[in-house]
Amino acid sequence: MKVKIENSNSSKKKTEMLCGFVLEGSDKILGLNKINSKIADSIKQSLKDNNGEMGKVTIVPTNKKILAKRILLAGIGKKEKITNDTIRFVSGKIAQKASELKLKEFSIITPPSYLIEPVSAVSQITEGCKMSLYKFDKFKSKQETSTPDLSILVSNSNKISKAIKNSEIISDGVIYTKSVANLPPNECTPSTLATFSKNIAKKNKMKCTVFSKNELEKKGFGGITAVGKGSKNEPKLIVLEHHGRRSNEKPIVLVGKAVTFDTGGISLKPGEKMDEMKFDKCGGCTVLGIMKAVSELKLPVNVVGIIPSVENMPGGESYRPGDIIKLYNGKTAEILNTDAEGRLILADALAYGEKQYSPKAIIYFATLTGACIVALGTNVAAIVSNNDRLTHKIKESSKRTTEEVWELPLNDDYMDMVKSDVADMKNIGIGRAAGTITAAAFLRNAIEETPWTHIDIAGVAWTQGATKSKPYNPKGATGFGVRLILDYLQKI
Ligand code: BES
Ligand code: MN
Ligand code: ZN
Repeated sequence: MKVKIENSNSSKKKTEMLCGFVLEGSDKILGLNKINSKIADSIKQSLKDNNGEMGKVTIVPTNKKILAKRILLAGIGKKEKITNDTIRFVSGKIAQKASELKLKEFSIITPPSYLIEPVSAVSQITEGCKMSLYKFDKFKSKQETSTPDLSILVSNSNKISKAIKNSEIISDGVIYTKSVANLPPNECTPSTLATFSKNIAKKNKMKCTVFSKNELEKKGFGGITAVGKGSKNEPKLIVLEHHGRRSNEKPIVLVGKAVTFDTGGISLKPGEKMDEMKFDKCGGCTVLGIMKAVSELKLPVNVVGIIPSVENMPGGESYRPGDIIKLYNGKTAEILNTDAEGRLILADALAYGEKQYSPKAIIYFATLTGACIVALGTNVAAIVSNNDRLTHKIKESSKRTTEEVWELPLNDDYMDMVKSDVADMKNIGIGRAAGTITAAAFLRNAIEETPWTHIDIAGVAWTQGATKSKPYNPKGATGFGVRLILDYLQKI
């Protein structure tokens, strides 16, 4: 899909579909000032039917009376209820309609600036349309052939073309994350992720280092190697570096859990929905998508992406409940459940990130705990942090991107819950109590002093039963976190 802006008198635009937003109860298409009287009546008629209801789209045929083949009315609801997501959401509906009608192109009229700031409007239109047209059909014999191109009609194009370019890169980052995360576990192993990372690094001039199983063992990555032992697909630690600033400036480190398949290991999971554990690599995929976009946007910050990747399998070589392992930072962990594997590979990656880069902040993503879904459901991610300023910034970005987060507490009582009788810590808490927080408590032991934010995306990384349906999040991986962190990095 190509996106372009046009400074145009929208009523005279030649297009297969001229799309405009409509406020609830209004009898006008926003931003369309004059329209040929020959079809004004049929528009009025259709507006009665559409009524500007949020998300409702209505087609009005123009019968060749104007240059546009058809008009689409897209309801955006009440003015007071418009949020950051409204235009993104409704644009997604429009794009899906265009695709359903198999159009080659369509045009959207930007709403007037008194309603939404123009740069924000075109960004949301671009993101909503692009993200909604992604489809995971790689493994279908017949694929969708092409997606329609979009013209965004504006009254003043200054500043705006840069915004579109930005939004295109950001949406492509999200789409990339989704397309890797959706890959089945037989097609995406730790070494596949390493290859993808190297390819992106090469294209976008980033440094990429991949540690093999041997190197991981030698350097003391006890968590990654223990979890990786049960699988024929060897573990990898992937490190991507984007240098957008003076090289001595401290970077932001992003870490993402990439378990390409989580069976639970010897503490085997039940069979129901186990297929969904291909999504246990989503944290790593999010980091990969962010790094791709960061380098394409050429953001003036130093950013390091670290992706510990393993497959958690049961077998003769697997690590076991009862094992005691030594993590990268020298601390020991008693394994009481091999299904609590994410925190072990993350502990290694976090300690490595802090030691190697002395970062300004560490932000890490993981589909870490089922308890997170119990606590917050499937539309909000859990965050835990040791730094209020960082949390505030993440929350501000979250408001802008509508990737929702909610903070959970972490005090010393929770730290006590992961203390072990025989080692420095144990890899589970006490029963089912506060499962999301005890995972964060375990990981608090991996970082010494750097400000950090832990983001548990177990509920939001892919669409599940209770996920709110959005046109730009079709079934499968959502790419949660990519837009959030790109917003954060752009505002630093
Ligand atoms: N990847 C899972 C968490 C998960 C489960 C995410 C379901 C999304 C949906 C993680 O590795 C895991 O198995 N966690 C255990 C931890 C427990 C053994 C302390 C869990 O949540 O049950
Ligand atoms: Mn697990
Ligand atoms: Zn897992």
